[in-house]
Amino acid sequence: MTDPKSRSRERFAAHAHAYVTSESHAGGEDLEAVVRLADARPEWVALDVATGGGHTAIAIAPFVAGMVALDLTPEMLDAARGLAAERDVAGIEFVLGDAEALPFPDASFDLVTCRIAAHHFPDVQAFADAVARVLRPGGRFVLHDQCVPDNAAAATFVNLFERLRDPSHQRSLAEGAWREVLRRANLEIEAVEHFEKRMSLETWSARQGCTPQTVTQLRELLADAGETTAAWMAAEGEGSETTFTIHQVVIAASKG
Ligand SMILES: C[S@@+](CC[C@H](N)C(=O)[O-])C[C@H]1O[C@@H](n2cnc3c(N)ncnc32)[C@H](O)[C@@H]1O
Repeated sequence: MTDPKSRSRERFAAHAHAYVTSESHAGGEDLEAVVRLADARPEWVALDVATGGGHTAIAIAPFVAGMVALDLTPEMLDAARGLAAERDVAGIEFVLGDAEALPFPDASFDLVTCRIAAHHFPDVQAFADAVARVLRPGGRFVLHDQCVPDNAAAATFVNLFERLRDPSHQRSLAEGAWREVLRRANLEIEAVEHFEKRMSLETWSARQGCTPQTVTQLRELLADAGETTAAWMAAEGEGSETTFTIHQVVIAASKG
């Protein structure tokens, strides 16, 4: 299995449980921002794309009439289903599918969310176009993902670093590139917020089952980063105490 989507499915099938228990996925001010910017109404039907452990779908489900949680990986859907049952959140429909070819009729949803996942999609324009298609006119899209700096060399470095840890990582975009993708999908941006998360290199690499050799390579890469990249990633500490910063962007947009 070598195509990007098979690789994603393979990686997330192997590490599904780690994404349910992951602190940085389970909550934080970034998840609160997604819920706040979604501003869901009780009569709405919502779709959470690439639901992973289900944290975003579970956070929004109590505020809407219907919630569909979609993911490419059957094992992740099982994990999300388990977490919803554990949290006593009923009524989420779990659907196997691809973010770039959403298996729903046009104008099916009032709200679409997608958190910490779009960097796995080989074609983010196809994804944004699919979101625009399944949203009803006036519907809202809340996109959350990790982002890279505008500086092209630093952006390439951050994406290489991410791909070394998780070969299913395709590409994180800078905020400006997301603005362009959403504009081309005819989605109008209403709000943009930024967040920074301090990550332990050990915990972050363990979530993807990295070998000790890969962790050493990641540490060496961090140490070798040029000035702009080093300022962006803000690495601190030594050995197993190494930490660095992940930057995230949340964009709320509407379909005209
Ligand atoms: C980090 S997890 C998502 C985290 C989750 N949204 C949350 O808020 O905690 C990334 C997910 O993207 C899914 N994924 C990757 N490529 C996909 C695609 N093309 N379509 C749908 N899901 C995809 C993976 O299976 C994985 O479950």
